[in-house]
Amino acid sequence: MKPKIAILATGGTIAGTIDSAIATTGYKAGALEVENLVQAVPQIKELANIIGYQIANIDSSNISDKIQLKLAKKINKLLIKDEIDGVVVTHGTDTMEESAYFLNLVIKSDKPVILTGAMRPSTAMSADGPKNLYNAIALASRKETKAKGVLVVMNDKILSARGAVKTHTLNLNAFSSPDFGDLGYILDGRAYFYNFITKFHTKDTPFNIDHLASLPKVDILYTYSNDGSGVAAKALFENGTQALVIAGSGSGNIHENQKKILKELMKKNLIVVISSRIQTGQVVLSEEDEDLGFICAQDLNPQKARILLMLALTKTNNPKEIQEYFRIY
Ligand code: SIN
Repeated sequence: MKPKIAILATGGTIAGTIDSAIATTGYKAGALEVENLVQAVPQIKELANIIGYQIANIDSSNISDKIQLKLAKKINKLLIKDEIDGVVVTHGTDTMEESAYFLNLVIKSDKPVILTGAMRPSTAMSADGPKNLYNAIALASRKETKAKGVLVVMNDKILSARGAVKTHTLNLNAFSSPDFGDLGYILDGRAYFYNFITKFHTKDTPFNIDHLASLPKVDILYTYSNDGSGVAAKALFENGTQALVIAGSGSGNIHENQKKILKELMKKNLIVVISSRIQTGQVVLSEEDEDLGFICAQDLNPQKARILLMLALTKTNNPKEIQEYFRIY
């Protein structure tokens, strides 16, 4: 019997259109509906019984915590209460890594959840959306995809949600996992896994979003030469930001002007996680900074650190406990 796979569409370039087959920029993302995506790839019906849901239809640079919560709740319902065997989420590539990691931390099922998208709009010559969608459905339909956490499939690569990062602005090969490498490869509908993830995910996290209507307010600040973002930190804090992720330089350093203000705000209970603006490698904190309550994002980039921090704040405000979440997830 064919598996039942749900496609949850949220927009993005995979659903983008423009009136030229040449154009790969300047299109409208999130123009097509989920039915159009399914009709464009009739071969997926040979792999699975498909049911489509439209969760949003946006350019993913406009993704919000509310849409991410709506998406996660729907996936949990489909996989836990309804008899759906796997889920494919079509998503804009700009923030796919954030939604993928969010789902990886809050989905309470070990059935396959796969995110995919496209770098070229549906109207483009050599559009990549149809093959990516086919690959995602093929992967979601396979039993060996179970219990691997949420996955991203782009350009025939299989990536973990935690590791996947958009590393090219326009190229079809836009995603990689700079610190871990890919989990595997998908070729003509067959998956080849050659790597695995050691971090806890999905059913093995304590994060429950069932009763949440919003997430704690967490923002990101960059550090740079002649840094003036201490001013921004103050303004964000006064505007209700509960926690900040700092995209530090190197292994997590912060300009002294910004750091001075962060220390003052931490005395008023601002939570500060230090990540890095460098794409690979670990952040390292001094003992003195740890004692002050700074939290180390480890190898998570700032946008992923923000996702984990929002969820951590639904459980605790204690920096030491939050640090432990960064070690485990
Ligand atoms: C988006 O993220 O919605 C637009 C860009 C893309 O999907 O590649």
